[in-house]
Amino acid sequence: MTDLQEPRRRALLPFLDLKRHGNRSHVTCFYKCGNACDSAIPNQSDNPTFADVVQTAFSRRNMLKAAGAGALIVAAGPLAPAAANERGPSGRPGGSTRGGALTFRPVEQNTLDELVTAQGYRYSVVMRWGDPVVAGAPEFDIARQTPEAQAKQFGYNCDYIGLLPLDDKDREALLVVNHEYTNEQLMFSGVATESSPTTPQQKRIAMMAHGISVVEVRRHGNTGEWRPVRNGRRNRRITADTPMEFTGPAAGSEYLRTKADPRGRTVLGTLNNCAGGQTPWGTTLHGEENFNQYFGPAAGPVADPERRLARYGISTSAAAGRRWHEVDPRFDVAAEPNEVNRFGWVVEVDPYDPTSRPKKRTAMGRFKHEGADVRIAEDGRVVAYSGDDERFDYIYKFVSKKKFRRGHDRASRAHNLTLLDEGDLYVAQFTGDSAAEIDGTGTLPSDGEFDGTGRWIPLVKNGASMVPGRKVDWVLTFTRLAADELSARGPEWAPTKMDRPEDIQVNPVNGRVYAALTNNTNRGVGTNPAADEANPRSRNRHGHIVEWKETAGAAGERFSWRIFLVAGDPSDPSTYFAGFDKTKVSAISCPDNVEFDPAGNLWISTDGSPSNLPGSNDGLYAVPTEGRERGQVKRFLTVPFGAECSGPLITRDARSVFVAVQHPGETDGSTVDAPSSTWPDRRRVNPFPRPSVAVAYRQDGGRVGS
Ligand code: FEO
Ligand code: CA
Ligand code: CA
Repeated sequence: MTDLQEPRRRALLPFLDLKRHGNRSHVTCFYKCGNACDSAIPNQSDNPTFADVVQTAFSRRNMLKAAGAGALIVAAGPLAPAAANERGPSGRPGGSTRGGALTFRPVEQNTLDELVTAQGYRYSVVMRWGDPVVAGAPEFDIARQTPEAQAKQFGYNCDYIGLLPLDDKDREALLVVNHEYTNEQLMFSGVATESSPTTPQQKRIAMMAHGISVVEVRRHGNTGEWRPVRNGRRNRRITADTPMEFTGPAAGSEYLRTKADPRGRTVLGTLNNCAGGQTPWGTTLHGEENFNQYFGPAAGPVADPERRLARYGISTSAAAGRRWHEVDPRFDVAAEPNEVNRFGWVVEVDPYDPTSRPKKRTAMGRFKHEGADVRIAEDGRVVAYSGDDERFDYIYKFVSKKKFRRGHDRASRAHNLTLLDEGDLYVAQFTGDSAAEIDGTGTLPSDGEFDGTGRWIPLVKNGASMVPGRKVDWVLTFTRLAADELSARGPEWAPTKMDRPEDIQVNPVNGRVYAALTNNTNRGVGTNPAADEANPRSRNRHGHIVEWKETAGAAGERFSWRIFLVAGDPSDPSTYFAGFDKTKVSAISCPDNVEFDPAGNLWISTDGSPSNLPGSNDGLYAVPTEGRERGQVKRFLTVPFGAECSGPLITRDARSVFVAVQHPGETDGSTVDAPSSTWPDRRRVNPFPRPSVAVAYRQDGGRVGS
């Protein structure tokens, strides 16, 4: 192990069922998603299951043939100048079609309070919660926090990481980071439990700790290390109060109008930004995920006849746990019923222009967007994939009407900034070819694969609603309900209920799409939907990854799919590593964010520990998607105690791996005054954890992973 700073080896605690769903702590469940798993499953629709859906002929040979057919993609990669990182059909950015070999030795599972990299690598911390971002920001001092200071400092609980170039030589860039949520117990001394009251001042600080940071960074020498630029000209903080604009078909809709904004065009802030994406025209996309937990009636109950609140997990009877309505009444759904409809969107930010107004792109629909990942289709239209992170919810695809314009001139960029405002919105249906053999144990069917065909079912097409009796603005604002209602048109219109769709990414080498399904312990339990071929394991505690190939072009309506990984301890017979020898892989659980290196290896960050070592630290894993090593999962790094690994971003030269160390020390009973982690500052300075972005790189300056 390298780079251990005052390592504190922790005794491995016996597993006393201290962990909850996907091995999260109770406090993580409270702060991160408002105890979503304790509420009724929001999707109560009676979509038919696989067995009811007409089977479509499928041949694995066809899928592989299609996958090798070339003519793939233009990928939006890290350090992509507007359209400069495009890869034509044969213009792969290095690596081999057989996948890059991953030569590092896997890191062992551990419970250290340290970021542990593979041998031969080191890491450094780039930005910590509270570090100054914009000019005039004070140095971090946990005892003297103010909303004004926090609004200029790096926010809490970093998640998505984007990196946009500022020069041609990959020496200067803009680091763009989401701040998903706050944990008041680890921010403020004296907050003992999640039910301890917070002061109005603390609530306002927490609001300013949400949102997005933009920070100029510079490469250190000729290494893979990057450091922040003090007072960078484009540095910016976006918070829960930053004015943003609604654009697209639902902008101005009756569902978005409030007392403060009777036109339904301007909203303050973005909340619970989880994953995201980078566009080829040099902007970033930010998913608004568990926005529901910030809203509720101060005095309930409120009526919800159409389930517009319940379908999104918004309480109709009780104020939100953070009680923000006490300092800002818009969070009281009784006082301002439409404010909650103004969250749950994809936000597009132009980090190159610090004065630009972020845009909430309504054409992409409203749900618990994990993130949004963009590709350019063969015909130039823009395709964006987005998962709705909820048990038994859906995967979506947006296809723009207009085409991406190459070139860096002002007119092309202005055009590209409108691409996400008009287009078709689809929801995914996965049909298995071995449906009758799926019994929930994870046993592979007789054809050797969990696989099948898929269909993108239109919700909005050519500007028209495809949901009977519903207008476009309703479909886009209440997209979950709209997707449920599609199945009234027949079983072939029924979207597939998935095991919590998280991050989705396109492989820059083989053009296939990979979606992380993080877990769903309710699958196959009681009256909940049973296992199906795309979600093949009952009580799915460790999650899986599905891989698909668009068979009618990236903008088309058909795909073929197969499961790439069924995660867990490899000695568990229900796991599957793309057929690779399970004695030679790392245990992995709860895949969350995914990323590709330029050679097409998949990198997976996790939000939960495998059953062979419950409570062991989360990490970042890499796995080839092609060649003899396809499926050989290796643990590249682990994050400090109590943390989740998010973000991952690999630079286009593959010399740097950025990770967001989210919620270090977030274990039950851990507080500022008695924390379970002191990473990264340690005892002498700040003896409590600070969520931080770190960068890992090879000591010899070479490419990461190989
Ligand atoms: Fe914020 Fe779906 O993880
Ligand atoms: Ca099959
Ligand atoms: Ca996530």
